[in-house]
Amino acid sequence: METVFEVRQIAMQLAMIEDRIVSYAEVDPVYLDRGTFFGDGVYEVVRSYDGAIFALGEHMARFERSLRQVDITGVDIADIRRRVERVFDDASIANAKIYFHITRGSADRNHGTHGDLKPNFFLTVTELDDSAAEKADGISVSTFPDWRWKRCDIKSLNLLANVLARRDAEKKGCGEAILVNDAGEITEGASSSVFMVRAAGKELVTRPLGPDILPSITRAVVLRIAEQAGLRAVKQVIRSDKAAGADELFLAVTTRDIVPVVEFDGTPIGDGRPGEHTKNLIEAFRQYVLNSR
Ligand code: PDD
Repeated sequence: METVFEVRQIAMQLAMIEDRIVSYAEVDPVYLDRGTFFGDGVYEVVRSYDGAIFALGEHMARFERSLRQVDITGVDIADIRRRVERVFDDASIANAKIYFHITRGSADRNHGTHGDLKPNFFLTVTELDDSAAEKADGISVSTFPDWRWKRCDIKSLNLLANVLARRDAEKKGCGEAILVNDAGEITEGASSSVFMVRAAGKELVTRPLGPDILPSITRAVVLRIAEQAGLRAVKQVIRSDKAAGADELFLAVTTRDIVPVVEFDGTPIGDGRPGEHTKNLIEAFRQYVLNSR
């Protein structure tokens, strides 16, 4: 009797990493991070000036709030702070950018959260390039629609809309994208908060906090030092069509602190040079940093 050969394949769960087929069971959990699959995590960016971390307490408080808002539990915030300080000390970089995030964890890709996973932590300490030219000459900005979700007060890893806005600005030769909502209002920059100076009333205007902007630490510092720089802080919506006519405009962000804006969608701001009030604020900010050490 003839033997009938049956080719039987054994079912195998597989994955591909670049061009390499690997057993799914052996995939490094780093590839199965919910941060990658869903942007399911939150982050912080802190900096140091001359060997001292700036406003770490405020950043940690915001980080803890972000974790709470997205219901990532089981994180010891005091331990995270110690990790930040430890790596910063080891790195010995005077002017450092410290980035860290926590994601919900690694698991099979499924929107469901598999109960409570072990959160993943990742941190980098790198050299920060403080651009003196940027401060002295200012930058150009361009507007882009604010396509983000309705909880921009959470510092989440979902940054696709911010990245697309920044790519558009880069293509236009601009240093930042200014996000404009459907009502024609400026919310914030792709990765910065936005300020306007009304010289006549010596007013410093910025959007009030709410779910549509990040509670920026630099913004809070700028508001704190406004008076010292001879300005009255006014929390008010800035309309995009009014911005180009502002006396002065600037951005505030941890990695660049205060950056004068000298061109808005191709229109010069004021005389096209960084304004006096902005320069005063840059100096007041510098003093604030020195005093906070
Ligand atoms: N971005 N708004 C957005 C959307 C931001 O991403 C940032 C900071 C800010 C300024 O926040 P702060 O003053 O706390 O840095 C405002 C960080 C630096 C980043 O994503 O790299």
